[in-house]
Amino acid sequence: MSLNRVDSQIAKAIKSETERQRDNLIMIASENYTSQAVMEAQASVLTNKYAEGYPGARYYGGCENADIVENIAIERAKKVFKAEFANVQPHSGSQANMAVYFSFLKPGETILGMDLAHGGHLSHGSNVSFSGTFYRAIFYGVDPENHRIDFDQIKSLARSFRPKLIIAGASSYPRIIDFRPFRQIADDIGAYFMVDMAHIAGLIATGQHPSPIPFADFVTSTTHKTLRGPRGGFILAKKEYAKEIDAQIFPGIQGGPLMHVIAAKAVAFQEAIAPEFGDYQRQVVVNAKVLAEGLLAQGLELVSGGTDNHIVLLDLTKTDLNGLDAENALGQAGIVVNRNNVPFDKRGPKITSGIRLGTPAITTRGMKEKEVKNIAEWIARVLERPYDNKVSRDVSSMIHSLCLQFPLNY
Ligand SMILES: Cc1ncc(COP(=O)(O)O)c(C=O)c1O
Repeated sequence: MSLNRVDSQIAKAIKSETERQRDNLIMIASENYTSQAVMEAQASVLTNKYAEGYPGARYYGGCENADIVENIAIERAKKVFKAEFANVQPHSGSQANMAVYFSFLKPGETILGMDLAHGGHLSHGSNVSFSGTFYRAIFYGVDPENHRIDFDQIKSLARSFRPKLIIAGASSYPRIIDFRPFRQIADDIGAYFMVDMAHIAGLIATGQHPSPIPFADFVTSTTHKTLRGPRGGFILAKKEYAKEIDAQIFPGIQGGPLMHVIAAKAVAFQEAIAPEFGDYQRQVVVNAKVLAEGLLAQGLELVSGGTDNHIVLLDLTKTDLNGLDAENALGQAGIVVNRNNVPFDKRGPKITSGIRLGTPAITTRGMKEKEVKNIAEWIARVLERPYDNKVSRDVSSMIHSLCLQFPLNY
């Protein structure tokens, strides 16, 4: 029986969500629109199957098709990123990180990650995450002047605290991350080096950002951000670490793999190999640059003064507006964003002094330089008069026509 007949409340909420995604500009840097093929795989009968274990070594019968799917996903992940080993079972990016920590660190040992307020992720040692309660976490940040990762600080923290693991990777860092100096610092103190490439996986897959594979012991990721796959995680590593990671994902921290999601990950990896995906990622970066230039031209300030990737981080510190009010004003006008701390922010994470903008989703819709220039102007207009209903209505109507010009195939 159809969903609508079984559960009209949920069917209605899903329909409204489809309309929301269709009729607004989704500029949350960690979101994207997956393809029909990815969604078809994820909505398949594989959701019915238990397949604890790994291909060829399962704890359930009837896993022959699950084995085919998972082997394909593993091989494609290795091919896309030129990695020696892949585990495609993590349910999420946080669980991929958890599996690496649990495999190679004992509780209480020290990890060195990027400060949340400077762009890092909760799972890199924040005290509200498992990573900050199981481990002693210390943090590096960015230079106060140029907002680039401060490698002198990392070197000095590494020498003083001798972390067992150094983590690179971020949720709101708009610049290229140079992995080589991280590796050198890790070697200097005999630490492991992990890169969480969740945000930039799509850029890395297509050469728009340098690859961490030659430098890192472990690379973790999500599949649903720039990579444009289903919601989920995966781990890449050198072959020598394969056994510990596999055993930590299952039976260590997860039960049965989500085979329908793994099938969808396989489809996304296949899409990532296609040449059009390279064109898409190039446009994501061009669009972010155009957005940054447009906002700067309107007199707005950006963390680090611009971008090298898919993220533009607006710094509202010198304006009367905070991140929460800016997020609400933009949302009202049909531009969906998230408030975000900026480096050295005096406001907490619930209010913040920044707005994180991203171009992956609007680029998937086909928007290019011309549209992004207009979007930058509209954002500036709303932020200049955040409580002006007329401005909000005018911008909202322009966004409505733009969304009609770039339809979604859902
Ligand atoms: C760098 C980074 N790592 C990990 C994650 C966590 O991914 P998930 O939400 O799938 O746990 C995120 C999510 O925003 C992220 O930005």
